[in-house]
Amino acid sequence: MKKTILITGASSGIGAACVKQAASKDLNIIATARSKNTLLQLQKQYANVQIIVADIATDTGRNMIADAIKQPVDYLLHNAAILDSPQGLAEISLSDFRNHIVTNVEPIIFLTQKLIHHLSSSENSARILSVSSGAAKQAIAGIGNYCISKAAALMANEVLKVELQKYAVLVNDYFPGVVDTNMQKTLRTAKTSTFPYASEFNSLKQQGRLSAPLNVAAHIIDVFINSDETAFSQTEWKYHQ
Ligand SMILES: NC(=O)c1ccc[n+]([C@@H]2O[C@H](COP(=O)([O-])OP(=O)(O)OC[C@H]3O[C@@H](n4cnc5c(N)ncnc54)[C@H](OP(=O)(O)O)[C@@H]3O)[C@@H](O)[C@H]2O)c1
Repeated sequence: MKKTILITGASSGIGAACVKQAASKDLNIIATARSKNTLLQLQKQYANVQIIVADIATDTGRNMIADAIKQPVDYLLHNAAILDSPQGLAEISLSDFRNHIVTNVEPIIFLTQKLIHHLSSSENSARILSVSSGAAKQAIAGIGNYCISKAAALMANEVLKVELQKYAVLVNDYFPGVVDTNMQKTLRTAKTSTFPYASEFNSLKQQGRLSAPLNVAAHIIDVFINSDETAFSQTEWKYHQ
C-alpha cells in the first residue's frame, strides 16, 4: 500500500521541495501551510496531493489538520517555522517572541499529540523528522527568537523520541545546513550590525554554495523511505553538499 507523508510548511523552500521529491517516489502527500494559492499550484502540479490550509501556530489550525486527515500517517515532516528580521534580545517585542514559540515549538508537541492515532495506525512504525537548525545549539546574535525557539523545538522532539516508543513511532531530527530559501534570504539581507553572519551568507549565495532545497529534500525523503529503523532513529541526520 502507498505510504502517506504529511509535510508542514509545504508552500515554500524545503517543504515545497519535499512535496516534489515525495511525488517522485509515489507517496500520498498531505501538504499544509497558510498560503492557499501556492498549495493549490502544488496540487495541480503533482499527483496524490491533499492540501490543508491551516495556521499551525494555532490550536484551531492544528485541529483542522488532524481532522482533515482520514488515513494513517506513515511519515511526518515537522518543517514549518518562522524567522523574523534580525533584532537583538534587548529590542525584541513580547509578541514576536511568542509568535516564534507558537509557530516553531508548539506544533512539535501539539500537532504530534493530535496525530498520535494517525501515526500509530501506520502499518509499520511511523516516522517523524523535525527540521532543526544549527541555531538550536549555538547562540547567534540577532536571531535570539529563532535560536531559543529552535532549541526548545529540538528538546521537545528529543523527549518525543523517548516517549513515542510506546506507540512504535520513531522520531528524529534533521539538520539541513544552509539552504537557499526565503528564510535564508531574510538572513543574508539583514544588516551586519544586527546579524554578524549576513555578509558570510551573502558570499555563500554569490559563490553558489547555498544548498539547493531540492537536494536537501531528496535526502529527507530518502531518509524516511530507505533507512532501516535503527539508522533512522540513531543517525544524526545532516545534509552534506
Ligand atoms: N533555509 C535554511 O538555511 C535553514 C537552515 C536550518 C534550518 N532550517 C529550517 O528548515 C525549515 C524550513 O525552512 P525554509 O528555509 O524552507 O523556510 P521558508 O521557505 O520560509 O518556509 C517556511 C514554511 O513554513 C510555513 N509556515 C510559517 N509559519 C506558518 C504558520 N503559522 N502556519 C503554517 N505554516 C507556516 C510557511 O508557509 P506559509 O507562510 O504559507 O504558512 C512556509 O511554507 C524550518 O524549520 C527552518 O527552521 C532552514
